[in-house]
Amino acid sequence: MNKNVKLRSAQWFGSIDKNGFMYRSWMKNTGIPDHEFQGKPIIGICNTWSDLTPCNAHFRRIAERVKQGILEAGGYPVEFPVFSNSESNLRPTAMFTRNLASMDVEEAIRGNPMDAVVLLAGCDKTTPALLMGAASCDIPAIMVSGGPMLNGKHKGKTIGSGTAVWQMHEDVKAGNISIEEFLSAERSMSRSEGTCNTMGTASTMACMAEALGVTLPYNAAIPAVDASRYLLAHLSGMRIVDMVWEELKLSKILTREAFENAIRTNAAIGGSTNAVIHLKAIAGRIGVDLELDDWTRIGRGTPTLVDLMPSGRFLMEDFSYAGGLPAVLRTLGDADLLPHKDALTANGKTLWENVSDAPNYNEEVVRALDNPLVSDGGMCVLRGNLAPRGAVLKPSAASPHLMQHRGQAVVFEDYDDYKARIADPDLDVDENSILVLKNCGPRGYPGMAEVGNMGLPPKLLEQGITDMVRISDARMSGTAYGTVVLHTAPETAANGPIAVVQNGDWIELDCSQGRLHLDISEDELNARLSARAENLPVNPLIAGGGYRSLYIDHVLQADEGCDFDFLVGCRGADVPRHSH
Ligand code: FES
Ligand code: MG
Repeated sequence: MNKNVKLRSAQWFGSIDKNGFMYRSWMKNTGIPDHEFQGKPIIGICNTWSDLTPCNAHFRRIAERVKQGILEAGGYPVEFPVFSNSESNLRPTAMFTRNLASMDVEEAIRGNPMDAVVLLAGCDKTTPALLMGAASCDIPAIMVSGGPMLNGKHKGKTIGSGTAVWQMHEDVKAGNISIEEFLSAERSMSRSEGTCNTMGTASTMACMAEALGVTLPYNAAIPAVDASRYLLAHLSGMRIVDMVWEELKLSKILTREAFENAIRTNAAIGGSTNAVIHLKAIAGRIGVDLELDDWTRIGRGTPTLVDLMPSGRFLMEDFSYAGGLPAVLRTLGDADLLPHKDALTANGKTLWENVSDAPNYNEEVVRALDNPLVSDGGMCVLRGNLAPRGAVLKPSAASPHLMQHRGQAVVFEDYDDYKARIADPDLDVDENSILVLKNCGPRGYPGMAEVGNMGLPPKLLEQGITDMVRISDARMSGTAYGTVVLHTAPETAANGPIAVVQNGDWIELDCSQGRLHLDISEDELNARLSARAENLPVNPLIAGGGYRSLYIDHVLQADEGCDFDFLVGCRGADVPRHSH
């Protein structure tokens, strides 16, 4: 306890008048005794539990352990639900409601009596949504992730969440396995509570949260059903109470230095391209300037050490037994590859103090620097006349022989057009073609769905072709792979150059130069763009009103993190005026 700290919650429960009576009296209807309101930190537990978010389905039990920790340390826990983004169930895409969830979090924190918050996140978009909302309030916060599922096991083989679906679906289309065989893997792939066990977006964002310093060490990799997950929840509950007395607000942790550490870490873990968008959005909320080119400057040249699917062989359970993220951070730090060892973390220690002695128990899973999975695992940021505001490609998921490629475009106007024609035996396409998918960006889809790793034409799969260059304004699942150019900005719906690519146009991709070029003259490009601008199709989805119109009207482009324009920034946690 620190007597100099003024508790926010005292502005509800601390006054001896009509208002204090009201705030306390209704809380007492569950039998809370007087002394809980007399100067104890009130700790919110922001819970994304939902039966519809299976990855977070165990969160009520995690919350119970957090509560135990809070009580033990002298705080009082108040659990509250927020919008839960399910990557597996939500349509058109969970990304469509990431900002909605972040608004929910922000307003729930600011408007309620709490001095700090524990963020319970797991499934992909829940992690950025909670960090974005909490960052806009800037109160003390600690994150507890739900943890990954156990390894998938199917017919004696290890299979990974998502990655197995993409692989086996291509096998069905190529005629290598039957549909019955495919469907039989459903239960085997998802064997326990928890998030995707590959280095998909959920695992990536859990690692990003740990690298940013907003969790306790080892948070990212401990399996959901491991007792250590519950221990970590308990300890996080204890720690948040001290963070109140230390006034350790998020802005002291989420610094520019922390984001630089995270970008370097993303390369070392072979993390999801979605992290590029989410880190930008989180940084924007706390007032840290982060640009797409920071990913080139800080990330490129960093070897990928973690040998996990989709780029490698293992899964999160193996990663946890090998030593988890601390083993990676230590390897980076020992080689002076951790940009800011002195960045502060939630437990009050620096990142390096947390990991400098971290063991590595399995150098097949967390590889040594001189034996990396990929020698340059940094995100490849591409620019050129086809992507003036950038595009990204994940080199560790791509085919080396395609990372410098010139081919002719086969254009799909939108995802429906793609689905209607991709299996057409008469489609004019060969393995050197470049598939271009339009209208799948933030405004266009809407929500920038994970369709960028569009499956290959079946007739090429049957010939044994396994990868082609694909370009879109979409995202792709972190569990997916391929030589896939994503996040092309501006998007089709914003009349970006991708909108006017035509069948047969030559396109050049050069990852080593960071170049994405549509090989037509500047005059021709401008003529096509202005002709299209004059007849710009109105997005029919806007007319329907509701959240969808708000989304399309206000969502920023991929290079800006796809936040809403009016949500960028930190608005603090000043207590609003009384309600009555
Ligand atoms: Fe929830 Fe992958 S679908 S973590
Ligand atoms: Mg995913």
